[in-house]
Amino acid sequence: MKIPEASRSAAQDLLNFIDTSPSPWHAVQTCEARLQSAGFKRLDEVDRWQLAAGDHCYVVRGSASIIAFIVGNQAAVNVGLRLIGAHTDSPGLRLKPKPAEDVQGMQRLGVEIYGGPILATFADRDLSLAGRVNVRTADGFKTHLVHFTEPLLRLPNLAIHMNREVNENGLKFNKQTELPLLLGVSGGDNTADNRFRQLIANRIGVDTSDLLTWELNAYDTQKGSFWGVDREFVANSQLDNLASCHAALNALLATKNPAATCLCAFFDHEEVGSESAAGAGGSFVADIIQRLATSAGLDNEDQRRMLARSFFISADMAHAWHPNFPAAYEPGHHVLVNAGPVIKSNANQRYSTTADTSARFMALCERAGVPCQQYAHRTDLGCGSTIGPIVAARLGIPSVDIGSPLWAMHSIRESAGVLDHHYMTAALTAALAN
Ligand code: CO
Repeated sequence: MKIPEASRSAAQDLLNFIDTSPSPWHAVQTCEARLQSAGFKRLDEVDRWQLAAGDHCYVVRGSASIIAFIVGNQAAVNVGLRLIGAHTDSPGLRLKPKPAEDVQGMQRLGVEIYGGPILATFADRDLSLAGRVNVRTADGFKTHLVHFTEPLLRLPNLAIHMNREVNENGLKFNKQTELPLLLGVSGGDNTADNRFRQLIANRIGVDTSDLLTWELNAYDTQKGSFWGVDREFVANSQLDNLASCHAALNALLATKNPAATCLCAFFDHEEVGSESAAGAGGSFVADIIQRLATSAGLDNEDQRRMLARSFFISADMAHAWHPNFPAAYEPGHHVLVNAGPVIKSNANQRYSTTADTSARFMALCERAGVPCQQYAHRTDLGCGSTIGPIVAARLGIPSVDIGSPLWAMHSIRESAGVLDHHYMTAALTAALAN
């Protein structure tokens, strides 16, 4: 399979994007850096806004959700909005508020399970910590992003001699007792709690007594890679859903002087149901749209007219056909890696796609010159969901759920196609222009 240079470099840029984003807070920081260097201006929700055609802006809520937009040059009431949504969070292990413990000569950190990871994939990986820490200051507290780049933690497997049935029964962990991550060996009077606090405090350059709270992700330090006989695949953590964030962000950055206002909304908390102040089930996107409309002087009726002319694309990953597990798939709806964006449909509205919005997305792919595929889950298997139906229900905008094909969704090491990422970026770029 021939991989064009442009697809290769887009995929390499995706791997770099993920490697600098080991937590949803870092993902927003990475987006912010790219938006700023493209001239986007940060808005704060506490200020009054005055927006004009051509403005390039972004807003962060809760430090792990971000909405970036370009104000269109035509009246929004006549052309509506073009929205793309994705999520910044990925399933995994998060440290507890008081994680450190000494157990019979060993020191370890207790974790909670965030969302629905494939827990077995976290075993024997070179894990480390990334996230945010709040430190006491004279007038309250300050948030620091923390990213330990060296391996720091591990969840070693039990030897097969003590787990003889592991290949027959699968690798299982008791979520409370068998998931704590090993940190070190107990020694002298330096407790696990002391060592953990010293580790964090030294990294930030503050006193341990000033550490207040943290949200820390156990992430995989292995960098992204290409694989396959023609290096036509990529592997990394968090492809679900940083691949969609990266494609949408690049689509927005490629958009010049659009007729309709274009928004990209990347939400935290999708993997835990989206019901939060900064999640897709919260008011974030509706609030930003309302403020755009107010700034444009639209009355209530014209705001409804604007929404009725709008289109929302929910971009999340799709289940790629795996030849070793044919029984897991709907036989008529295989989606292949490197064969283009996938339209995801579900009669029970687990996806927001309708026949109309699906046809509209197909036309966009055609315009962008990229192939496109259709996915339906097996009828005898429960179907996943994403932010599409949630945002569609909140805003009342016609919506479609799409995504690039992905293997091993929710593994700590997922993989996908080099061509697909480039196709997706082209399709989303076309969506913002039409
Ligand atoms: Co996802």
